[in-house]
Amino acid sequence: MLKLSIRDQRALVSEAELATAVQEGIPVLERVQKGEAAYADSLGWLHVDEWAGEEVLSRIEQLAAQIRETCDAFVLIGVGGSNNAARSVIEALADGTGPEIVYAGNTLSANAMNRMLKRLEGKRFAVDCIAKNFETLEPGASFRVLRRELAARCSPAEAAARILCTGTEGSPLEELCQKEGYTFLPFPTNIGGRYTAMTYVGLLPMAVAGIDIRALVRGAAGMEQALRSGAPEDNLALRYAVLRNLYYQRGYKLELLASFEPQFRWFYKWWVQLFAESEGKDGKGLFPVCAEYSEELHAVGQYIQDGAPLMFETFLDVEARQDSLVVMPDGKADHFDYLNGKDFYDINKAAFSATVTAHSQKLPCLIFDIPALDAYNFGQLFYFFQFACYVSGSLLGIDPFNQPGVEAYKCWMFKALGK
Ligand code: PA5
Repeated sequence: MLKLSIRDQRALVSEAELATAVQEGIPVLERVQKGEAAYADSLGWLHVDEWAGEEVLSRIEQLAAQIRETCDAFVLIGVGGSNNAARSVIEALADGTGPEIVYAGNTLSANAMNRMLKRLEGKRFAVDCIAKNFETLEPGASFRVLRRELAARCSPAEAAARILCTGTEGSPLEELCQKEGYTFLPFPTNIGGRYTAMTYVGLLPMAVAGIDIRALVRGAAGMEQALRSGAPEDNLALRYAVLRNLYYQRGYKLELLASFEPQFRWFYKWWVQLFAESEGKDGKGLFPVCAEYSEELHAVGQYIQDGAPLMFETFLDVEARQDSLVVMPDGKADHFDYLNGKDFYDINKAAFSATVTAHSQKLPCLIFDIPALDAYNFGQLFYFFQFACYVSGSLLGIDPFNQPGVEAYKCWMFKALGK
C-alpha cells in the first residue's frame, strides 16, 4: 500500500499543526467519501465498479484481443483526459508484444501529423477516437485524416471494422457510428475526461497494449476501499491534500512531482493535467510541474536548490528491486572504480536519498513509497490522486470538476477558423 512521509529540515509545518489541519479537514473528507450531490454528474469514478465492472472488462478484453490479432498498429485519438491515463501506463509498462500504439488527436502540427501518418505506412491499423463532446478540434481533425487514410487503403466494410469511437451516448459521434457502422463505446456521462482512467476511455487502449487491466482495476478498487473507509485521521488522501494546502498558504505556489524512474514520464502529464485543470481556477491553485530525475538534477536541480523558494516537492519512490544491472570493471583507468560491483538499483537509490537530503534543507519534500511499478500500483495511484484532488480542491474552495478557463482560448480559435 502507498505510504507518505515528510522530509523537511526546517519543519515548516509542525506535527501539531498538521494534526489540527487534518482534524479540520475531516468534514470535507466525509463529504467526499459520500460524494456530494452538487457533483453527481462528475462522480462516476468514485465507485470503481460503476465503470470497470465485469461486463465492461470482458467487453474490453474481447475487443482488445481482436485488435491485437488483426492489427500492427493502434491509433489512440484523444487529447487531455481522453489520452493521458492510457498513455501513462502504456509507455511505462507495455512489453511491445501487441500492436504499436500511435497517438493522434493531441496536436495541430502538420509536421507531427505527417510523422504520425508515416509511422502507419504499410501497417494494418485500427483507431479509437475518444472524445467526450466531439467538438474538440484536435481529435476531430485527426479522426477525419485517419478515416480518409483507412478509406484509401481498405474496403468500406473493412475500414468501418477498424474504427472504434468512445463518446457520449446520444452525441453526434454516436450518430456517426450508427450511420457508418463503427463500433461505439460509451464515454461515461458522469465522469469528466481527466478522471476516466478506469473506464473504456483508459482501459481499452491499455488492454490493446497488453496491460493487465484487471490488476489495474483491482489496484484502484483497493485504494477506493482504503480511502472511503477507515479512521479519517489516517486517511492518506486527506493528509496529502491538507499538506498541499498548508504549503500553498505559506507561499509555495508550485508542486513539483519528481521520481528517479523514467517510467513515470507520461504519468507526470496525467498528474499535471489532473491538478492543473481541477484546481487552477478563481485566481487560486498550486501550479503542478514535474521533473525527471536524475537527468533534470543537471538542469532544474540548480533552481530547486538555490533559486526562488516557489515550490515544494513530491517524490514517487518505487520500493521493489524490479531490475538489476551491476557495474563491472573493464580494466580501464576511468576513475569510476568506486562503482565496481554496485547495482544501478542501489546507485539510483543513493542519488534519490542524497537529493531528498539536499532539497529538504530548502523546501518541504513529500515522499510516496510505491511498492512496485506495475499495473496494480498504477491503479492505486490513479484512484489515490483523483480522490486527493477532489479533497484538495474542496479544501481550496473550488469546483474540482469543471474547466471554465479552457473555453476562453477555444472561442477565439473557433472564431479564427470560421466555425
Ligand atoms: O479533463 C477534461 O475534461 C478535459 O481535459 C478533456 O478530457 C479534454 O479537453 C478532451 O475533451 P473531449 O474528450 O471532449 O475531446
